[in-house]
Amino acid sequence: MMSRYAKNATIVYREDINKELSIIRIKPDEGEVAEFKPGQYAELAVPTPEQENPQEGVKPEKLLRRSYSIASNPSVKDALEFYVVLVPEGALTPKLWDLKEGDRLWLGPKVKGKFTLDGLPEDKDFIMVATGTGLAPFLSMYKEFRKSNKWNKYVLIHGVRIADDLGYKKELEQFAEEDPNFVYVPMCTREPEGSAWQGPRGRVNILFETAEAFENKTGVPLSSDSTHVFLCGNPAMIDTVQESLEAKGFTQHSKKNPGNIHFERYW
Ligand SMILES: Cc1cc2nc3c(=O)[nH]c(=O)nc-3n(C[C@H](O)[C@H](O)[C@H](O)COP(=O)(O)OP(=O)(O)OC[C@H]3O[C@@H](n4cnc5c(N)ncnc54)[C@H](O)[C@@H]3O)c2cc1C
Ligand SMILES: NC(=O)c1ccc[n+]([C@@H]2O[C@H](COP(=O)([O-])OP(=O)(O)OC[C@H]3O[C@@H](n4cnc5c(N)ncnc54)[C@H](OP(=O)(O)O)[C@@H]3O)[C@@H](O)[C@H]2O)c1
Repeated sequence: MMSRYAKNATIVYREDINKELSIIRIKPDEGEVAEFKPGQYAELAVPTPEQENPQEGVKPEKLLRRSYSIASNPSVKDALEFYVVLVPEGALTPKLWDLKEGDRLWLGPKVKGKFTLDGLPEDKDFIMVATGTGLAPFLSMYKEFRKSNKWNKYVLIHGVRIADDLGYKKELEQFAEEDPNFVYVPMCTREPEGSAWQGPRGRVNILFETAEAFENKTGVPLSSDSTHVFLCGNPAMIDTVQESLEAKGFTQHSKKNPGNIHFERYW
């Protein structure tokens, strides 16, 4: 019998944004990807030979698996796209970094997560705030629903260290040119003074200090009546922005107590 830890998917595309950031597309052996909702995540692992082919009677070590938000949208059926950063001292990502197109790995069969646009009213402004690879779910959501009436305005704020870490920038700038309801705000925290970066500097939370500052920067009001805010990535960013929003009357969303702050912590 085949080990449940056998490799079951292939890397069909890998684009390195820089040495530590990659876009990776993974095709499951079954051909079509599992059904999912934009905002959900899947698990990845790189099984060892012992895990793939355990000796008879020896229980294989558990897989070292990690969660990754799906960056592609559900209409794309042949592969799942992921946006991944290398954590040099991390347990899984250095192993993932050794893989190239054609290499095989383990893709969790179940897609999971509640960080979706399910059940939300359609006349609201959506403010999506990402640090680093926290951009992934917002790409999936936008691509899937951009031609629908799912939102009024879709504001995408992406905070990174340096401009070189702004994955998908060209594509997002193109969307902003084509779609008057899409606002893209890339921000850098560690661009050297006097560098070529002409865009906003500082952490994303500074935009939420006052409703005026937010509206000046994005052209969209920051009002708890008309807005849902989605936060994804670095948990320290999520805490800071959540605090600013709660001071303005926003509340955390749950199925039991519907509110307008939604988040996905990456660690
Ligand atoms: C629901 C969910 C979705 C996720 N989606 C993504 C995704 O789309 N892309 C992605 O790159 N990661 C994502 N992550 C993080 C991912 O699961 C791993 O934690 C990450 O790849 C590091 O794994 P590792 O084993 O190499 O490091 P570990 O040994 O697990 O080290 C973890 C440490 O690495 C740092 N870290 C982990 N993830 C990140 C990150 N994304 N950016 C910056 N620092 C980080 C933190 O300091 C954390 O404490 C997600 C996590 C969750 C819970
Ligand atoms: N060796 C390198 O030079 C290098 C470079 C990039 C990444 N990495 C590795 O990659 C991993 C991830 O790095 P990453 O840059 O993708 O993710 P990250 O560390 O989460 O940083 C992404 C962005 O989030 C900002 N941020 C951090 N805390 C915040 C808070 N409390 N509120 C608001 N914004 C906040 C950061 O600002 P600040 O800049 O102010 O922290 C940065 O602009 C790290 O583990 C690191 O090892 C290494």
